[in-house]
Amino acid sequence: MKRKVLSAFLIAAMTLSMAACGGGNGGSDSTGGDSAPAADEAEDTDDAEPEGDADSGELITVGYAQVGAESDWRTANTESFKSTFTEENGYKLIFDDAQQKQENQIKAIRSFIQQEVDYIVVAPVVETGWETVLEEAKEAGIPVILSDRMMDVSDDSLFEAWVGGNFVLEGETCGDWIAEYLEDQGRGDEEINMVTIQGTIGASAQVGRTEGMANKLKEHSNWKMLDMQSGEFTQAKGQEVMESFLKSYDDIDVVICENDNEAFGAIDAIKAAGKSCGPDGDIIVVSFDSVKAAFESMIAGDLNATFECNPLHGPRVAEIIQKLEAGETVDKIQYVDESYFDTSMDLESILAERAY
Ligand code: AHR
Repeated sequence: MKRKVLSAFLIAAMTLSMAACGGGNGGSDSTGGDSAPAADEAEDTDDAEPEGDADSGELITVGYAQVGAESDWRTANTESFKSTFTEENGYKLIFDDAQQKQENQIKAIRSFIQQEVDYIVVAPVVETGWETVLEEAKEAGIPVILSDRMMDVSDDSLFEAWVGGNFVLEGETCGDWIAEYLEDQGRGDEEINMVTIQGTIGASAQVGRTEGMANKLKEHSNWKMLDMQSGEFTQAKGQEVMESFLKSYDDIDVVICENDNEAFGAIDAIKAAGKSCGPDGDIIVVSFDSVKAAFESMIAGDLNATFECNPLHGPRVAEIIQKLEAGETVDKIQYVDESYFDTSMDLESILAERAY
């Protein structure tokens, strides 16, 4: 692995910029905060083919294997990396969009190895199937940092650290919120029919949120999960899945969407079917992420609640890299604190301060 020294000035600048970052929302953050607006200075490699030696003098070269551009959350995550890993901050970022395909990410990681980057960062599409390529990175002496979703690997020395949201907890928080909401509505003992529009099957955001909700389903014998299908974390697929649920079931009480974009599609499908949703509607709709558009949807009376998943991992990963550069140890698993938002809150004020 090539090691490059970041000047004391740049380290100080990074530290100051990270300290100045604020979440600006209801959730606190134990591992670093918000990032500045995107400065699109990164090198984009659509085909992930090697593009020569990534060596760039004093800069630390980071290859980021991103999932894709499937959601508002993902866009905010990409911007967080691009605005953090700038030349001004002492980095050269090689960015790859895998278009939600694991094979593209593996290809990108191999390209990063060939380019002899200093660090590889991966937001893995799915949890399994990474051992071989991570072994290759290890053999090349390139540290790998995982961000957002987790990998299921037998040897955890294959990566330095992971930073992201606690997806199981997000699912459980959602289940607890539904229970309290139904109780408040006087529906605590009613038979409640639910459907779930899942995320990409095998992604830890899907696995964890489904598991968290399943834990809460066990606590409520009057809740019935009628169906679960993947909406691939996209609005278009969320709409398609909801259309099919509405054709199959005429008595849906709650729709759980494993991200906000799926919820936007589901809401369109519900309205197109002549039904209503939200606090005053026929169907309760909840989702995950808490992007700005979800606040607009709650303010419009369509979405009931959204459970936060913070995408601003750029500064958190930079902090890990700086510690590794300084020879310090880093916590292997770093959860980000997250919150939730619903229509009982002052959403206009929260939205005005919202960073993503
Ligand atoms: O892994 C995080 C999830 O991926 C977000 O919930 C979703 O919007 C994104 O596509």
